[in-house]
Amino acid sequence: MTIRAFVFDAYGTLYDVQSVLERVERACPGRGALITQIWRLKQLEYTWLRTCMEDFANFAVVTRDSLVYALHVAGVEPAEALVTELEDAYLHLTPAPEAHDSLRALEGHTRAIFSNGSVAMLDALVLNTGLKGLLEHVVSVDSAKVFKPSPKAYALLEPVIGVPPNETMFVSSNGFDVAGAKRFGFQVAWVRRGGGPGTAPADAGPTDMFKAQRLHAEMLNAKPDHVLGSLTELVDLR
Ligand code: 2OP
Repeated sequence: MTIRAFVFDAYGTLYDVQSVLERVERACPGRGALITQIWRLKQLEYTWLRTCMEDFANFAVVTRDSLVYALHVAGVEPAEALVTELEDAYLHLTPAPEAHDSLRALEGHTRAIFSNGSVAMLDALVLNTGLKGLLEHVVSVDSAKVFKPSPKAYALLEPVIGVPPNETMFVSSNGFDVAGAKRFGFQVAWVRRGGGPGTAPADAGPTDMFKAQRLHAEMLNAKPDHVLGSLTELVDLR
């Protein structure tokens, strides 16, 4: 099957969600790792819970709510100025080192982001990080009013990009997203951002716990077609 489109998850795949750590640590000295990891774990948890509860609020709301939760847990007062400063970090995430070159190498194919991110968050992020000119589409789940891995979310893509799932390579580092996209019918490439059997240390700290929770192959009823160590390997899948 010819691959005519490459569709990328944003947070964790094209962008490093751990890149907020520096700003969080500067604002909350000594508690940066704890807050950063609880924030990301709770952020994703809220997307699943809101979808199951049929109580959609966009990713900006979920990102703020999960940040406030993490600050409370860490014993930090979630003052408005602090919350505003930290949630802004999601509009300036560091792209994966190979993101620009990998997107450039796929020129001629349809290249899209498909993400839980709200329309406003994603538009700001791709503009702030110089990826805007390397993508034909930036698609948010917002109009479906559910989050990934709901099939109703993935169903938004084909009408926008004009390429059927079986000719689309869906690229994600998030195991739940890999499973959801595969079950929906995409060709799927899982980008492994670390993790792996036996990598969780016995005295796991916050960042180790995050990696143990998020960077391993999920035990769900769907496996990726390809497992990559880097986005640069995508050129071999064209
Ligand atoms: C994204 O939708 C899963 O948060 C990740 O970009």
